[in-house]
Amino acid sequence: FPVVQHLVFGGQCGNQIGVEFWENILQEHCIDEEGTYFGNDPVLIERANVYFSEARGARYVPRVVSIDLEPGVLDNIRNGSLGRVFRPESMIHANSGAGNNWAKGFYTEGAELLDNVLDVMRREIEACELLSGFQVCHSIGGGTGSGMGSLMLQKIREEYPDRMLSTFTVMPSADVSDTVVEPYNSVLTLHHLLENSDMTFCLDNEALSKICIDVLKIKSPVHADLNKLVAKVMSGVTTSLRFPGQLNADLRKLAVNMVPFPRLHFLMSGLAPLTSAATASYRQISVPDMCQQLYGAQNMLVNCDPRHGRYLTCAVMFRGKVSVKECEDTVLGYADKHTSSFVEWIPNATQIAVCDVPPVGLDIAATFLGNNTAIQEVFERIVSQFSRIFRRKAFMHWFTDEGMDEMEFSEAESNIHDLVSEYRQYQEAAVDDGMMYDDDAEGVYDQQTNYDDQGAADIVNH
Ligand code: GTP
Ligand code: MG
Repeated sequence: FPVVQHLVFGGQCGNQIGVEFWENILQEHCIDEEGTYFGNDPVLIERANVYFSEARGARYVPRVVSIDLEPGVLDNIRNGSLGRVFRPESMIHANSGAGNNWAKGFYTEGAELLDNVLDVMRREIEACELLSGFQVCHSIGGGTGSGMGSLMLQKIREEYPDRMLSTFTVMPSADVSDTVVEPYNSVLTLHHLLENSDMTFCLDNEALSKICIDVLKIKSPVHADLNKLVAKVMSGVTTSLRFPGQLNADLRKLAVNMVPFPRLHFLMSGLAPLTSAATASYRQISVPDMCQQLYGAQNMLVNCDPRHGRYLTCAVMFRGKVSVKECEDTVLGYADKHTSSFVEWIPNATQIAVCDVPPVGLDIAATFLGNNTAIQEVFERIVSQFSRIFRRKAFMHWFTDEGMDEMEFSEAESNIHDLVSEYRQYQEAAVDDGMMYDDDAEGVYDQQTNYDDQGAADIVNH
């Protein structure tokens, strides 16, 4: 069955993560930098059409648009080792830049480039037999990935309303801020992610750097190091899409199990094994070792502590020659031992998937996804930074000059405040206290019943 994904990488961060992602995917499927398959195991190439279209001469071409409002990053990619693998028309840039301004990405410069982008996308998609969904990769602190990213999400939702839309989203870090308007750009983007994304994988540079320094023992990590971690998560969650012979846990199925309410679709992720290059060859890692890493707060790729909240749902995807029984026993054993870490009104909240093809260079590996109410800490932090500058209307003219209205700021602000309190409500909710909800949340409570119906049939995917 053809499950085909279309990818969109936007802005500096999105595109630089893209480089690591494609490098990883090319290696896993034995495709070289000219797009030629050089492997000898049919399993490697059978599903390559998930991410590649096949051009003349058995050439595999990534199905992607790479967008930026300034030329620098895309020029580097064109001139880099992967430069020839991409279709030249699929790399689209303007020369103006968005200058860290969400409004330029969404309303002016980005909007100007939009038709061009959509044309390239449509042509690519028309050639696909069955499009399953979109994956968007961006940061939310700058102007392009955030503003034009939001615009792309809106357009994709309009034009392909029944396709899964997932995003890999780099949130600003807690302590180090790149620019003063970062909280504006972030809250405006979160507002759009809330409305238009089906599933968002949350990442932040502080958490990624910490893992690089503390666990991987990289003294001063650069963006490429952080991006390699993100690429591993992207590869991990799409493994069962890309290799045959497994139960088909595609992204929609993952979303059905992970997202109990449409707005609460922001996931944290973890990876195992995480070992420094120096010690990796001295240790044989086991399934229980990996699980211990996966659930550890210090190994989450976003800076919030799952112990401060409760899991609504989670999923663990194993790769390599592992015993399915051992995976199940370990993961379900963890859930049994830590019942207070899970909300009690979603039974069997943990999903397991197994794919026997390991990532390049490892015997076994695993990826963790959690829908944990503690993610509200991230939103709370960002929105309170937002409110501090918005209260005085500082820096507003940069945005209103591009045609934005102040109303949009207050709407976004209160939408994120609402999200934070929804997470808190569900964190405290017990099995039989449905009546404590206000009107709004009561509707949501009904949907929980639906989720249980669907979830029961679909908990363990193998
Ligand atoms: P403009 O340059 O303003 O038009 O937007 P942009 O989308 O290109 O901005 P950028 O992606 O540079 O967004 C800034 C945020 O992304 C900051 O939080 C940076 O720390 C972060 N960032 C930039 N490049 C990378 C990268 O390669 N990897 C990671 N992980 N973060 C990055
Ligand atoms: Mg940029």
